[in-house]
Amino acid sequence: MSNMLLEVNHVGHVYQTPQCEKEALKDVSFQIEEGEFVSLVGPSGCGKSTLLTIIAGLERPTHGEVRLDGKPVTAPTAEIGYMPQKDHLFSWRNIRSNITLGLEIQKKGPEYYRKAEEMMEKYGLRDVGSMMPDQLSGGMRQRCSLIRTLVTGPRFLLLDEAFSALDYQTRVAVSVDIHTIIRKENKTVLLVTHDISESLMLSDRVIVLSHSPGTVKRIHDLSVLKDTAPMERLDHEAYGSMIKDIWKELDIHG
Ligand SMILES: Nc1ncnc2c1ncn2[C@@H]1O[C@H](COP(=O)(O)OP(=O)(O)OP(=O)(O)O)[C@@H](O)[C@H]1O
Ligand SMILES: [Mg+2]
Repeated sequence: MSNMLLEVNHVGHVYQTPQCEKEALKDVSFQIEEGEFVSLVGPSGCGKSTLLTIIAGLERPTHGEVRLDGKPVTAPTAEIGYMPQKDHLFSWRNIRSNITLGLEIQKKGPEYYRKAEEMMEKYGLRDVGSMMPDQLSGGMRQRCSLIRTLVTGPRFLLLDEAFSALDYQTRVAVSVDIHTIIRKENKTVLLVTHDISESLMLSDRVIVLSHSPGTVKRIHDLSVLKDTAPMERLDHEAYGSMIKDIWKELDIHG
């Protein structure tokens, strides 16, 4: 297919430690098209973060390969933005200079700094630019971290438990907010989450991984929810049975 952006082909990964070998992933394959929002759910320890670090080019898989736009990913690339679970804001840099950190590292020109200012204005962070991370709420820090990931202009975003540090109400508000930002910026996303309802609210498809070693157990196509806004999906007639199906697939005995 011509608009295929990401291909994960038969990826397997074994960690070698002095004590033992740990098979974290086994024969994982899926594709993501340009513009898709895909969630990845699976039991704790099944290899989700491992898969994200492999896709980000930070770790080489033991088996298989990852391709972006048909080209193998073997090292980090500016086309892929990776937002780890912890926001990793530097406490000694103010919000503005945390947001522009990637621009400094990638030696980007002034137009990128203008874009950073625009995004801070657009997403309600302009007035806190000179504040320190500790002075911000969890939700604002997450937004700051996302804008930092977006401002270097990656086409593809990897978000690992991006909202999990927040309490339920804030998480729903921030995830919907970030979903809007991502849609407006026309990005492609792979989001790791423990929260099935979050995955159903935000995604076009949900990939369910099995117990460790992680394999693809099922891929749910949510096209029936396509034209329904995130919060309204909770009331959709298909929502209840989908949540039950995924819940069963994540069964601790499964
Ligand atoms: N650097 C490492 N060395 C050895 N084993 C590792 C390493 N990183 C992860 N593992 C192991 O690989 C498996 C998968 O870990 P991973 O962090 O990818 O799981 P996860 O699905 O992200 O879990 P969680 O939902 O709890 O975040 C686990 O058994 C973990 O202990
Ligand atoms: Mg993880």
